[in-house]
Amino acid sequence: MKKYVIRTAAVIAATLIGGQAVVAGPGLLMPDFNAELGRTLFASKGCVVCHSVNGIGGIDAAALDYDPEGGPMDPFDFAAKMWRGAETMIYMQQDELGDQIQLTGPELAAIIAFAHDEEQQALFSMDDIPENIREMLHGSDEEHDESEPDADHDEKPDSDEDHD
Ligand code: HEC
Repeated sequence: MKKYVIRTAAVIAATLIGGQAVVAGPGLLMPDFNAELGRTLFASKGCVVCHSVNGIGGIDAAALDYDPEGGPMDPFDFAAKMWRGAETMIYMQQDELGDQIQLTGPELAAIIAFAHDEEQQALFSMDDIPENIREMLHGSDEEHDESEPDADHDEKPDSDEDHD
């Protein structure tokens, strides 16, 4: 009975803090998996500088597109994969963004939700990316701008090496 009261109080507190956090066990609170917020954070936190979604973003690391074959996923698997890649990722973040990306639990939950939400991924566009992050995208020379014509290699004036 006492436990029940404590849990109920925790749920009420979590709801007041924001979102739909739920109690997952004694002393454990699951944050709200807000994919729409995740769409914003994926861009503003800078994940998009190295990872793409919907064809938008860098190619330094694997695309984080929703995989329809993948089925539902334990969000902690996503975090575990980040942890596995942490050394390289943090090194690159310091190099490209100037610092390690900091995330709270609810922010990470939102980004994970976005990585598994087909609808929110389909909505992802350049408009979601703040100016300062966009500049980094262009700075890291992997974003090909379609308005930029390919250097044309039709005429090669240097083909006169056959004189002997
Ligand atoms: C500066 C580049 C960079 C940024 C920014 C970055 N990552 Fe990464 N990320 C990487 C690299 C590189 C790897 C692969 C590391 C390895 O394999 O050793 C990686 C790996 C991952 C993986 C594991 C992929 C897998 O299948 O194993 C996940 C998940 C991930 N990143 C999520 C994120 C999220 C979420 C953000 C934003 C909060 C982020 N990354 C920001 C470069 C980056």
